Order: sequence, then structure tokens, then C-alpha cells
Amino acid sequence: MRSLIICGLILAFVSPCICVVFNSTTNAYNVIDFGAKGNGKTDDSQAFLRAWESTCGAEEMGTLIIPSNYEFLLSPLILKGPCKASSVQIQIQGKLVAPAKKKWRSYYFTWILITNVNGLIVDGSEGSLHGSGSTWWSCKHCRRPSLYITNLNKCDELISIGSLGRGNAMTAEQIYVQNCSFTRTTNGARIKTFPNGPGYARAITFEQITLIKAGNPIVINQFYNDPSTWGEVEVSEITFRDFNGTSAYDKAITLNCDPQGCFNITLDQINIVSSKGGKRVYCSGRNVHGTATSTYPNCSCLSS
Ligand SMILES: *[C@@H]1O[C@H](CO)[C@@H](O)[C@H](O)[C@H]1NC(C)=O
Ligand SMILES: *[C@@H]1O[C@H](CO)[C@@H](O)[C@H](O)[C@H]1NC(C)=O
Ligand SMILES: *[C@@H]1O[C@H](CO)[C@@H](O)[C@H](O)[C@H]1NC(C)=O
Ligand SMILES: *[C@@H]1O[C@H](CO)[C@@H](O)[C@H](O)[C@H]1NC(C)=O
Ligand SMILES: *[C@@H]1O[C@H](CO)[C@@H](O)[C@H](O)[C@H]1NC(C)=O
Repeated sequence: MRSLIICGLILAFVSPCICVVFNSTTNAYNVIDFGAKGNGKTDDSQAFLRAWESTCGAEEMGTLIIPSNYEFLLSPLILKGPCKASSVQIQIQGKLVAPAKKKWRSYYFTWILITNVNGLIVDGSEGSLHGSGSTWWSCKHCRRPSLYITNLNKCDELISIGSLGRGNAMTAEQIYVQNCSFTRTTNGARIKTFPNGPGYARAITFEQITLIKAGNPIVINQFYNDPSTWGEVEVSEITFRDFNGTSAYDKAITLNCDPQGCFNITLDQINIVSSKGGKRVYCSGRNVHGTATSTYPNCSCLSS
């Protein structure tokens, strides 16, 4: 199955960052230049590591370019920080594929781990991640390879995971975003789907998240104007756990699903208050099924 994260580059606030972003290609490190073959057969992990070393070691924001029209087979890969610059970009235009199950040698089930990278910007709007999931399907109880993004000081430009279903059939699966903070961002942990599926967002976890005046701290949004597209992008097994902080708007949690519903949505240990002292925040949603425990604001829209 295919997995795709699209981490929309949301530059909601005009800031000096924008210049850096638009000028990022001056510090571009293309994996092909570091020996990646991109034929879908050769393991390109070592080339990716070399390209990452340069990207991460760049004095000014470096961009790791994963070009389109290539398919990169990657064995478990760790992209480690801290990096020299205060921000690093990864542009996924091509296709990343995980080894098939019978070729999976690691004891661990982390396929790609991005750790300790400050100010990470992942722009995957043109690329895709293929967990080679179909080869894991037959084993119902097996853990499947996951993509972990963890220990980020800030993930201000990262993450909404989504815009799934726009154009192509797109899927996002087995993604963990852990230990980061959203400061004055338009969105926090967001899953957004468009109805041109089929596709799905499944088994996605956001954990240990700190919010500082975040615009929309927790969002699931399925666009479903057209009934013929209901249920085309399935959203299930989404977990939001251990969130603390403040929301810039009164609506702190949005769980908006199409009439087919989103399932197994878990909220746990959520404590979001208003950034405007004393104001109440609330949760709103529809067609959403799952559980909320120790969650403030309460989500009475969530049904089992
Ligand atoms: C990008 O870099 C060039 C050359 O260094 C500079 O002239 C230009 O002003 C920069 N663009 C932005 C938007 O900062
Ligand atoms: C979270 O990230 C911070 C900064 O990157 C790090 O110092 C801290 O140890 C991390 N916490 C956990 C539980 O991983
Ligand atoms: C959130 O607050 C709780 C209670 O104070 C604390 O146990 C937890 O570690 C905090 N989590 C984060 C991510 O800051
Ligand atoms: C929801 O979780 C239950 C229990 O883990 C599982 O049996 C069921 O298949 C899940 N449904 C979806 C749609 O993920
Ligand atoms: C839950 O929130 C709703 C609306 O935000 C509110 O009307 C209701 O009283 C709350 N329920 C509890 C038990 O706090």
C-alpha cells in the first residue's frame, strides 16, 4: 500500500523565514548526486545518508531533494540531527519504497526515522511513500514498518498530514509524529482529506505535543460536498495523545468526518486551553467514532 505524507508548507505569517524557504534551492542536496540509483531495486539508503549528512551539515538551511520520476528503495533509514542550521527541508517528489516483508531484516519496525531535527519542513506534496504494505497484509498480526518523526523542537512548518485524495489515490499510514511543539502555527496536528480518493489515512499517531497559541491544534477534516465521494478516503486509527498548551481560537479540536464516518479515533491526555486567558475552548465534530479520555475540552461529538 501506498503511504504519503504531504506536509503542506503553510506560511501563514509573513516572516523572514519565507525568504529562506524560497531561496532554499541554493543549498539543495539531490540524492542522485550522492549516488542514489532510483530504480526501485538498488538499496539507496547509503546515498540518502550521504546526502543527508551534507544537508544537515549545511550552515544555512539545506534541502534534501528526492527527485520525481525515480523510485528509491530504502532499507530502514535514520536521518539524525541535530543539524547546523536552525531549519532543514526535505522535498519528496519521487517515490520511496520500503523493502518487501521477506526482505525486512531489522528487528525493529521503524522504516524511516527522522529524529532530533529542529525546524523540519517536509514537503511531500509531489511524492509518495510506499510501505510495501501489500506484502505485509497476509500477516494480520505483524507490525508494519512505520515512519517516525520525533524529537523535534518545533514542527511549525510540518505536518499537516493530508490533502489526501486530491487528484491521485493517496494514502498515509503508520506515521508517528512525536515530541514536538507547534508555536503560533495555522494548524497543529491535522489530517485533511479530499474526496478524489480512493485512499486512506490510517494508523497515524501524534504524541507529546506542545502547543503555543496554535491556530487549530487538533483537526480531522474530510471534505465531502459530493455524496458520491463519501467514504472514498477512509480515516481510521488516528491517535492524539499527550497534548498540552494553548489554542489561538476558541475551537481547539475539530473532528469533521463525512457521513461514512471516521473510526477508532482516540484522544487521550489532552489539555488545551485558550491563549486568551479565561476564554473557554471547545471541541466540535460530526460522524466521528472513537474514545476521548482525560480530554479537555471535552469531545461529546465522539461516539463509540
Ligand atoms: C534569494 O537569494 C538571492 C541571492 O542570494 C537574493 O538576491 C534574493 O534577494 C533572495 N530572495 C529572497 C526572497 O530573499
Ligand atoms: C523531546 O525533544 C527534546 C528536544 O528535542 C529533547 O530534549 C527531549 O529529550 C525529548 N523528549 C523525549 C521524551 O524524547
Ligand atoms: C502535559 O502535561 C502533563 C500534566 O502536567 C504532563 O504529565 C505531560 O508530560 C505533559 N506533556 C507534554 C508533552 O508536555
Ligand atoms: C477499530 O478497532 C477495533 C479494535 O481494535 C478493530 O477491531 C476494528 O477493526 C477497528 N476498525 C477500524 C475501522 O479501524
Ligand atoms: C462538553 O462540552 C459541551 C460543549 O462544549 C458542553 O455543553 C458540555 O456541558 C460539556 N460536558 C461536560 C461533561 O463537561
